Amino acid sequence: MCGIVGAVSVNNVVPVLLEGLQRLEYRGYDSAGLVVTCGGLQRLRTTGRVHELQKLADEQKMQGFAGIAHTRWATHGAPSVRNAHPHFSGLEENNPRIAVVHNGIVENYESMRERLQSEGYRFVSDTDTEVIAHLVALNLKRSEGLLEAVCASIAELQGAFAIAVMEEARPDKIVVARNGAPLLLGLGESGNYAASDVSALLKATKNMVYLEEGDVAELTSSGYRIVNCHNGKVVQKVERAVHETELTSDAIELGPYTHYMQKEIFEQSSAVANTLEMVFNAQSISPNLFGSAAESIFSQTSSILILACGTSYHAGLVARYWLETVAGLPCNVEIASEYRYRDPIVSPNTLVVGISQSGETADTLAAMKYAKKLGHAHSLAICNVPESALIRQSDLRFLTRAGPEIGVASTKAFTTQLASLLLLTATLAKLRRKLPPEAESCLIADLRHLPVAIQHTLQVEPQVKAWAKRFAQKRHALFLGRGVHYPIAMEGALKLKEISYIHAEAYAAGELKHGPLALVDSEMPVVAIAPNDQLLSKLKSNLQEVHARGGELYVFADADSHIVPSENLHVIRLSEHEGLLSPILHTIPLQLLAYHVALEKNTDVDKPRNLAKAVTVE
Ligand code: M6R
Repeated sequence: MCGIVGAVSVNNVVPVLLEGLQRLEYRGYDSAGLVVTCGGLQRLRTTGRVHELQKLADEQKMQGFAGIAHTRWATHGAPSVRNAHPHFSGLEENNPRIAVVHNGIVENYESMRERLQSEGYRFVSDTDTEVIAHLVALNLKRSEGLLEAVCASIAELQGAFAIAVMEEARPDKIVVARNGAPLLLGLGESGNYAASDVSALLKATKNMVYLEEGDVAELTSSGYRIVNCHNGKVVQKVERAVHETELTSDAIELGPYTHYMQKEIFEQSSAVANTLEMVFNAQSISPNLFGSAAESIFSQTSSILILACGTSYHAGLVARYWLETVAGLPCNVEIASEYRYRDPIVSPNTLVVGISQSGETADTLAAMKYAKKLGHAHSLAICNVPESALIRQSDLRFLTRAGPEIGVASTKAFTTQLASLLLLTATLAKLRRKLPPEAESCLIADLRHLPVAIQHTLQVEPQVKAWAKRFAQKRHALFLGRGVHYPIAMEGALKLKEISYIHAEAYAAGELKHGPLALVDSEMPVVAIAPNDQLLSKLKSNLQEVHARGGELYVFADADSHIVPSENLHVIRLSEHEGLLSPILHTIPLQLLAYHVALEKNTDVDKPRNLAKAVTVE
């Protein structure tokens, strides 16, 4: 996690660095800092948010023509000014003065720290990053320049990371390196920039260069060069394509909303419409939507393995029901962080599907690589970020066109993932002759109807808001669902935990009597998802079990579910049962519930404590 920005310009870079940090704050917000060259390295750090750093920079009228900046999600060392980046080397005399910002983890930092200490370097923080600063300083003594010293240093560091480095003696340049964590360059008219993601640089430029793994780049105000290194030595200069990003700075503005999460909940109708646009314009479903090799790969596919984390994992769990029921394909869904350390049995012709909003989640990327190493021949990425590592490392890809998701709690990414997975199911079902033409037409019609159905569902907000007031007093909650709606209950519980800090657990409703029923009393609200599907009568019995024990039920029911409100049984009616779309639509009120409970509790909705948006460390 963490966000890094660098800038070298003929103008003052402090505004660009601060704007970039604001945009990257979703990646971590435990502390923030920057350094600029202005008659020496001038550093500012705070445990506050970026706006605190801005205040300090304004008070000090900070200026400089080159600088690097950082917003932190703490891994090594508690959030404190001492541990905030940038970190320095050169506090000792006769050593070059170096500043470093870093995203990722240096795994061998303990042994490196001992070695550098024995060389006389003094450590003043608890971070792994400080090792990089001293190592670059050490290597600089025997290198031609900073770029060469960075190359030499990277060869000695283990782990996945991205860094930006400055040297006091060369205030006209910065050097950056990508080694397992995202990093790109922005090319402007009056300067050149580097950042963890595009959104940080949109105000400065639209021309981006995506660095590849192992690239090291040197930036000045008038140019840049990218090199490859091997065994710590520069091997050759490399060329990387310049892309004009389609993203506009409007897409990342809050507009009339109070929070990004609120904006993103209400954007879901258009996010889904954008994701499915190509299907809306076609009369039939084609494998080409997933890439030119999709037809050949899908034709060989006899089972599916889905790898993902968090909300994306819940999307995979929903897809399992669809893939089995509609496409007749066996499907296994695994938490990426677990899969990567198991000895799973590889079955031939399994298509591995990685689902991720960011495409940067370290566990998902590692699990996908591990699946490949084990012998799985084909992979598909379902992802929201076009230039992400997941997209680049997969054979097939489908982009959820949700637009940037900035709130830490994932909302529109989830519903667009579900829409994409439903499309994948239909595509595989058609190839396997499980989807006759009439059924295909019906499914396309359903997908076309989805954006409108989402708009309609959003209208329950005032009723959900009234429920939220009661939830804000509670310390625990249970979420129940059955069948394909069980993962939706899991997603509802995750949303509530994440932003309202209320302990919430999800259960398959039939599982309640096997233990969790013991928790039910008047202090334990029980949220249930009650679509009018084939499991409704079973679910109704499970709800009776709660009601009979004095539990208070909050039920989201289809209009035709025939659940009548009574004492301790509150019901919000959605539309009539929407078939395969039902799990997508039932997600919306659960997102609204979490959002409004968080508002009642006055938590930091978009930046909940201890979390960050993209989990790029293990
Ligand atoms: O970017 P990804 O979809 O790979 O992220 C996976 C999880 O970290 C993410 O879904 C997380 O659980 C969300 N904060 C949930 O709202």
